[in-house]
Amino acid sequence: MSDTELPEHVRENRAYWDGMADEWVAAGERSWRMREPTWGMWEIPEAELGLLPADMSGLSAIDLGCGTGYFSAWMARRGARVLGIDNSQKQLETARRLAAEHGVELELEHGNAERVPRPDGCFDFALSEYGAAIWCDPQVWIPEAHRLLRPGGELVFLGNSPWAIVCTPEDGDVVGERLVRSYFGLHRTDWSSVAIDPGGIEFTLTVSAWMRLFRATGFEVLDYIEIQAPETAEGTRHFASAEWSRRFPCEHAWKLRKRD
Ligand SMILES: C[S@@+](CC[C@H](N)C(=O)[O-])C[C@H]1O[C@@H](n2cnc3c(N)ncnc32)[C@H](O)[C@@H]1O
Repeated sequence: MSDTELPEHVRENRAYWDGMADEWVAAGERSWRMREPTWGMWEIPEAELGLLPADMSGLSAIDLGCGTGYFSAWMARRGARVLGIDNSQKQLETARRLAAEHGVELELEHGNAERVPRPDGCFDFALSEYGAAIWCDPQVWIPEAHRLLRPGGELVFLGNSPWAIVCTPEDGDVVGERLVRSYFGLHRTDWSSVAIDPGGIEFTLTVSAWMRLFRATGFEVLDYIEIQAPETAEGTRHFASAEWSRRFPCEHAWKLRKRD
């Protein structure tokens, strides 16, 4: 699909990520060096969250918005055969280089996670950490992930929580303690013209709307985790301070299973 045929948010987000992929190289390299997976900006160990199967031998997995590919690598090191799909060629350049340097075999493909050119039911496991999880329209990518999974297959994703969107000031500064944006009706947030650190176009839903979408699509919820920053966390990461993130959920993670 040519750039002009892509939905507006996918086109906008492609330009945004291609433009700033260089800024994510160092973080990607650091995560690739880590043997144990951690989740989100406060790097909560997988051992605490239990979102990944411990042994992924023989599983076919897809990383929807794989970025620099560290989650793809972590799944591959657990034994999975992994396809990483990403909207940014520049991010994929980093992922390809790191896969070669670390000797990890990944299939990496340029594309839109809302429309993956793979047959129905061909994956056992689907994952997104800040990829499709926030950059794709849930009404499109959740049914697409469902289509790609076999019955009984699992989808796990993590992104910023609706609380974080509601508490982000109009100028795009880090989250504060005022409810600034409406909670009801949450869907698309366009950060491209905010004053501070302008970004792309993100999506989230209210918790009840996520639940309704999962049920309507054919997923059952196995777990829902509101991420809390640990006592030892300090400073500000990306959009939230450690202090804020100890009081409110800055991020959330869903673990879903495709109904038989
Ligand atoms: C924060 S990075 C993801 C980090 C990732 N978990 C890793 O292991 O590096 C977000 C990624 O989502 C990708 N993305 C945004 N929109 C997308 C879409 N429609 N389809 C696929 N990937 C998308 C971006 O290009 C970017 O590489």
